[in-house]
Amino acid sequence: MTHGTLGGLLVTDLVQGRDNPWRGLYDPGRQPLRAGGEWLRENVNAVLQYRDWVRPAQVSKVEDISPGSGAVLRRGLHRVAVYRAGDGAVHAYSARCTHMGCVVRWSSEEKSWDCPCHGSRFDARSGVVLNGPANAPLEPYPLEDGD
Ligand code: FES
Repeated sequence: MTHGTLGGLLVTDLVQGRDNPWRGLYDPGRQPLRAGGEWLRENVNAVLQYRDWVRPAQVSKVEDISPGSGAVLRRGLHRVAVYRAGDGAVHAYSARCTHMGCVVRWSSEEKSWDCPCHGSRFDARSGVVLNGPANAPLEPYPLEDGD
């Protein structure tokens, strides 16, 4: 009840451009000091995941991917997330996560593309977002003959 009243007062002041003494205390972007260690650990982990851009590809050709499985290929500067369905159909997308650009990884348990940075998941066949924070699908990647 108390916080509902405070919320009403805060929102009214924010909408009208007035200062409010509780603004900093209830700011959704605040970082409590005791959470600093955890925040730092999570962000260092996310930054380390960008190493995938310079690592070797998992496989070099689509034919090396077992039916019903996926792998990340390298094509020049691009990383391509390729899913080879059980019926042999090939679904290829840019492996760049649409949230903040980490390289997605194949999840054999979920049969989806999962981002190691913040946990977004994408459908293997369509590239659509299954779980955020990403809010846009993976971009289709046109494979050429011989890929
Ligand atoms: S970069 Fe944030 S979820 Fe992929």
